[in-house]
Parts: sequence; structure tokens; C-alpha cells
Amino acid sequence: MAGKIPQDFIDDLIARADIIEVIGRRVQLKKAGREFKACCPFHDEKTPSFTVSPGKGFYHCFGCGAHGTAIGFLMEFDHMSFVDAIESLANTMGVEVPRDESDRPARRYDELFALTESVAKHWQGQLRAHKVGADYLAGRGIDDDTARRFGIGFAADGWSEILDKFGQTPEAAERLLATGLIIRKDNGKLYDRFRERIMFPIRDQRGRCIGFGGRVIGDGEPKYLNSPETVLFHKGRELYGLFEARQALRHIDRLVVVEGYMDVVALARHGIDFATATLGTATTDEHLNRLFRLTDNVVFCFDGDRAGKAAAWRALENALPQIREGRQIRFVFLPDEHDPDSYVNEFGATAFVNAVDNGVALSDFLISELANQVDMQTVDGKARLAELARPLVNSIPAGVYRELLMGSLAEAVGLSAAKLDKMLQQTAQPGKESSPQGKFARADNTGTSMKSGQPSVVRRAITLLLNHPAAADKLDVEKLAGLSRPGIDVLQELIETVQAEPNISAAGLLERWRHDERGRHLGKLAAVEVPDEDEFDPALELSACLDQLALAGRRERIDFLIEKQKLNPLTDDEKLELRQML
Ligand code: UTP
Ligand code: MN
Repeated sequence: MAGKIPQDFIDDLIARADIIEVIGRRVQLKKAGREFKACCPFHDEKTPSFTVSPGKGFYHCFGCGAHGTAIGFLMEFDHMSFVDAIESLANTMGVEVPRDESDRPARRYDELFALTESVAKHWQGQLRAHKVGADYLAGRGIDDDTARRFGIGFAADGWSEILDKFGQTPEAAERLLATGLIIRKDNGKLYDRFRERIMFPIRDQRGRCIGFGGRVIGDGEPKYLNSPETVLFHKGRELYGLFEARQALRHIDRLVVVEGYMDVVALARHGIDFATATLGTATTDEHLNRLFRLTDNVVFCFDGDRAGKAAAWRALENALPQIREGRQIRFVFLPDEHDPDSYVNEFGATAFVNAVDNGVALSDFLISELANQVDMQTVDGKARLAELARPLVNSIPAGVYRELLMGSLAEAVGLSAAKLDKMLQQTAQPGKESSPQGKFARADNTGTSMKSGQPSVVRRAITLLLNHPAAADKLDVEKLAGLSRPGIDVLQELIETVQAEPNISAAGLLERWRHDERGRHLGKLAAVEVPDEDEFDPALELSACLDQLALAGRRERIDFLIEKQKLNPLTDDEKLELRQML
């Protein structure tokens, strides 16, 4: 049977394909400056708005919005499947498609899995050998049995522990690089990515180790270092602890989604085996698909702080299209200052399970959040609530649930369902999208003086990156850690992909997102005109975008702490944080 086509072959193929030749053989192209134009083959038109950019490696129609890479074009125009399009493209370029990973020894998946597994085992052994590591885990209440179940280990201090032990030949070093366990410096020198950290192996559905999260002992930065995007590891898709949950449970009647590695492990330590964590990203469609394949009952449990509320709201937005009859989605908000780990340690397993059982239904969370943003005493306020609810309600598939939610909303605003329905339609002014975000996850603006209609910084950064992927090579992606605004997870993943595959082209990046709902708008952003490299420095621009985002995030946090201070005294940690930021 033909094997999977290796991703790096696809990247390479797209980078080398001549899109002008591919499209030019099927459509009459005319040169116009740096680009080529034609009447769009996908819709009827008299003046050409179909543009092909040889530099970026893709096409875009400003008339009908069709866009894609050479592969995408073949799929659309010749009605080919993805694999056939690759075969056809490779054929015209005179290369053979490797079908079996053994064609590329350094990237053979089973070898990579064997490597991650050996490294995980090595780190587990180190946990017993290093008192710092063992003491840290014990100090956090994790017993040996739980540590063993999750394969928790310890990466000792040193720049070449892993390199020396597992990377003796050039092929072995290549494999370490491919799994993100070591890093290559500019001068070619190699060194270990994870040093002096508690190591959490991240396992896929089959229990294979695809990456790691490493927690610093004590207070260093970043608190958690994760594997980069690699051929094995795609952060936005994975759920930490899901494999272990399936191992522990015969029947999964619910799954609780928490934020951190330690939350999952601490809950398991207390006998709560149905917790799983997203890996520092928002809850994506892919996460939800995976969860709902295993259970109909999903509970999001977030920290009691503002970031937790923001994360919950984003989870809600992403979950709306997934609502079906029979599915239950609830939200639990722990008391301020608590996360599931601290909560279960302080109050015990029964209290946690109670909190989960008493979670707020999605509809109640939605309505109460919106009601908080308006003055429910006034007619205007109620109209505003209806307006805020419109895009949310509309993203729920039509059916019983949507009707029920409409009913509850109508009750909240004191109208009949029919009247509300009419109101929802009235407020649907074309071109004036009301912001679906709650007050926690504010609209996509960075707190700087972005006028409406101007692209947000996240969009600008993504646009720059897609136009000049190499500019992302040296960026410090950690600057984005902890920020929450739309698209930031996509930006993060794009940067990590470029850093893992420095030669990837814009079109190659787009292809990677072909099957990811979050990548829907990437094609549009990639088509935006950005000046040439000799006219400005894209790396500098991109880095400025990141700084701007980090700064805006800090400002929001300061505002939040100052506001909070007026109502409640800050904790010592918060005071310190505020002082440092100011
Ligand atoms: P938190 O900052 O809430 O940490 O990050 P935590 O889970 O409570 O960790 P402990 O209890 O201090 O050890 C939640 C999750 O966000 C991701 C990790 O997946 C983490 O588990 N994260 C956080 C990072 O990826 N990098 C960071 O620097 C911080
Ligand atoms: Mn914690």
C-alpha cells in the first residue's frame, strides 16, 4: 500500500514548482509588473482580476476570492484529489513522489517515535537520579505512581546531555533536530532544547510520544517550554492527557478540559482521570472534534482569573458550531486564585467533581456574559444584547438547541421568541459586524491607535510572515506567550513552523493549513500586497509587530490589575507583577 507522502517533500515540491508554468499551461496569463493576470477561470468576468504571484507561489482572484497554491489550482481546475495533484506536479517536474517514509531515512516516523520514546525513558531515569527534580515533583504532591503513568521525567542541566547520548552520528543528530529535541545555532553548533526542567511527554492517540513540555524548576522564564511544531507535533491539535485518560477509563462519560499539564496530572493523582489539557493554545475546532468523538459531555474548567474567563469565552465561540442535540457543554469557573491543581489539592477530589457537576450550561454562560455588557434595564440595552447575540446564535446549527437558546435569550430580554427573532434580523446590518467577543476577549485590537478598517497587528504580522517567511526565522515567539486575541495561536504556529523549516515557502505554509479550519483566511492574507525586501526590512517589521502585541498585552494586564485593585486587594504575586510591569 502506498504510504503517506512526507510533509517535507510536499514543502519542497511547492517551493520549487513554477506556478506560472502550471497555470499558464491551462489559462492565458499576461505579465503585469511582478505578477501575472488573467480572466478568472473560476467565475465569469470581462476584466481580469485573477492574479498569479510567482514570488509567493500562489494565485488569488480579487473578483471571486478563489485562491491557492499550484496544488490547489490543479485540484480546482483539473478536479484532482490532493494526492493526484501532487503526483501530477511532481511528474511535470520530473521527480518521483516518495511513498514510503523509508525513502527519507532521517524522517522515518517510526524512527522518530523510537527516538522520542528513548529520550522520554532517559528523562524518567534522570528523575530518580536528580534530587532537584524528584523533590520538585514531590513538593507538588505528585507520587511515583502518577509520575510513572504520565511518564514524567527530568532533563538535567547541561547543553548537550541529549545530544551526546542520542546524537552521535550526523543521521542521529538530524533526527534529534527533526523532533525538536536539539537546536542548531547560526554557527552550526547544536545544543539541547530542554535543560533543567521537569519533562512531560505529550502522547498521541496511540500513546506515541510526539513532543514534550518542560517546566522550569522554580521561577525561570519561560515557565513551560514546549516542543516546536515538528512532523510529529502540531500543538493546535493535541490534547495533553487524553491518551492517559483513555487508558485509565473503560468508559468515558465526560471529559474535563483544563489549561495546564500540572492540572491534568494533579487531578489524576486524586483519582480524577477524565481531565485533558490544551497546550497553551485556545480550544480549536480540531480539539473539539477529538473530544466529541469520545464523549457527549464536555466540561471546560478554567482558572478563576481574567485570562481564564477570556479562554472560556473563546472556547464557547469555537464550540457553538459543534452544538448538537445530545451534546452537553458546560463551564466551570474556579474561585479566584485557583486552578484545578491548587483546587483539588486544597479541597479534594469530591469538591472538584461537585464543581464540575455544577458547571454552568453553555447557554447560561453566553447569556450572562452578554447581559453583563449591557444595561438590561433599558430598551437600548436589550436591543444591544440581541445585537451581540446575533452572530453567536447564527453560528449554532439550526435545530432544537438553537430554538431553546433563542427561547432563553427572549426570556432574558423580556420579549417573545418571535419578536426577538425579528429583532435579530433587524440588527443584521450588512457590513457592520457586531463584535461577538465578550468583554474579556475584546475585539481584535491591540489597544494602540488602530482605526477601524485597518488590519489588526496580528493580521499584519501574519500577512508579513506569509509574504516573507524567512523574516520569522529569528523571532522570539515566547513574546506572545499568554496573550489572547484572535489569530494569535495561528501566528504562533506559523512562526514555529518557519523556525522548524527555515526554507519553507509561503505556498508551503498555506498547504500545511489546508485541513485546518483556523487557516481559512490565510489565503486572503497571503494575497495582500507587501513591499519587496529591498524596500523595507520584513524581519524588523515583524519583530516590531510582536513587540507591539506584547506591549498591548502588558497594558491590558496593568489596566486589569489596577481595576481589580479598586474592588479587591491584590494578592502578593499580583502586587509584585504590577510593580514590575509599571
Ligand atoms: P499556567 O501559567 O496556568 O501554568 O499555564 P500552570 O499550568 O498553572 O503551571 P504550574 O502549576 O505553575 O506549574 C497553563 C498552560 O499554558 C502553557 C502550558 O501548557 C501550561 O500548562 N504555558 C504556560 C506555556 O506553554 N508556556 C508558558 O510559559 C506558560
Ligand atoms: Mn498551576
